[in-house]
Amino acid sequence: MVENGRIQKAFPMDAFLIQGGRRLKGTAVINGSKNAALPILIATLLTDETCTITNVPDLRDISTTYRLLEELGKKVTVTGKTVKVEYRRKLKTKAPYKIVKQMRASILVAGPLLARFGNVRVSLPGGCAIGMRPIDLHLKGFETMGAQSRTEQGDVVLATEGLLAKRVRLTFPSVGATENIMMAAAATSGTTIIDNAAREPEIEDLGNFLTGIGAVVTGAGGKRIKIIGAAKLHGSRHRVIPDRIETGTYLCAVAAAGGDVKLKGAEPKHLEALVAAMKKAGAKISKIPGGMRIVSSGRPKPVSILTKPHPGFPTDVQAPWMAYMALCSGKARVREEIFENRFMHAAELLRMGASIVVDGNTATIRGVPDLSGAEIMASDIRAGAGLIVAALAAHGTTKVGRVYHIDRGYERIEYVLRRLGAKILRVKE
Ligand code: EPZ
Repeated sequence: MVENGRIQKAFPMDAFLIQGGRRLKGTAVINGSKNAALPILIATLLTDETCTITNVPDLRDISTTYRLLEELGKKVTVTGKTVKVEYRRKLKTKAPYKIVKQMRASILVAGPLLARFGNVRVSLPGGCAIGMRPIDLHLKGFETMGAQSRTEQGDVVLATEGLLAKRVRLTFPSVGATENIMMAAAATSGTTIIDNAAREPEIEDLGNFLTGIGAVVTGAGGKRIKIIGAAKLHGSRHRVIPDRIETGTYLCAVAAAGGDVKLKGAEPKHLEALVAAMKKAGAKISKIPGGMRIVSSGRPKPVSILTKPHPGFPTDVQAPWMAYMALCSGKARVREEIFENRFMHAAELLRMGASIVVDGNTATIRGVPDLSGAEIMASDIRAGAGLIVAALAAHGTTKVGRVYHIDRGYERIEYVLRRLGAKILRVKE
């Protein structure tokens, strides 16, 4: 891989030391979306021609994707936020465990490789800190399109005499299954319909990329997506959409710690459920030219939420939201409806003085007037982000361990927060 840009240097045992209680002020620039960039980079496997992707964030999951593409046979050149993916040699059709275990989204190589070569072997990703995360919906989709699947020595093996464009109905609007089937369909002649598709903005971005390389995708971002595939797809240039989860995390951070911040590049249309909940809680959020502005307004009112597929409240902002609600002036509930085990941050928030009772998929928060600094640990990307939100609002110093989780999804979060006036240091443990 050729890297001409800045690459975030992180070490496995880094921790953040955060001295809370400081108001945040100024402007932060929102990066390109991790969860849009990942499938788009993987979709470059659909063509031998050169694809140039811009506004790609500099994150650990993204560099893992570069390694995966290179392992499969692509040449990847990174210059700042621009990534060129080129032909190097005939693609392999096996994604190895050493990469898949670092990043579950590796399963997305199945769709493009199966459609192009008629077979693919991907290590099964296994569970993770937020749930079991099966891939049955991906496999059912491929089976409907004429593939056979089996599990062999920890790998899922898919084969087909040739995929067929079909109508695929998802029993749940899985983001990954929708993306995998869209990519397979893009390289399959005929018209594929995905019913009950995921509606996340990242799906719409992937649809635009696939149209840019020669498929015809309509309806992406809605419940029914139509993909007219082509036997040969071509190169293209594409700009990744802004990261709505990074935006949501910074909104929660400012609302919780207090302050007045402009988020340049943020797209309010992608965050309507969160913005509505924040306004109910009392934060002032407005659309400004080229972004959004948030002005905090003291202790939040209690607002209960339940996470839902888009356009519902995003599960990826649930942890930052819980940290914000830990300070509310009453009782708020958070119900997690997407993942079965996404409350690991709650126990860490208790160490900071929060009052939270978890019962199954519901957390009941009795707001406290203050949180206090403590030594705590991140368990996944967003749980880690939630702990940072709490630490920024807390009195005293918090040490957040296992920062490598946070580095998977937030680009130089400590620089961004420092520029806004936070006291945050990366230290080696
Ligand atoms: C994507 O994961 C995101 N990851 C996640 O972000 C995000 O939390 C999630 O969508 C929901 O919005 C990427 O885009 C790379 P799903 P994905 O398939 O595609 C169940 C982050 O922090 N399910 O919509 O894996 C599954 O177990 C990450 O950036 C099945 O049962 O999400 C889960 O409970 C974390 N069978 C639910 O559906 C399947 O075949 C949602 O999963 C597929 C999913």
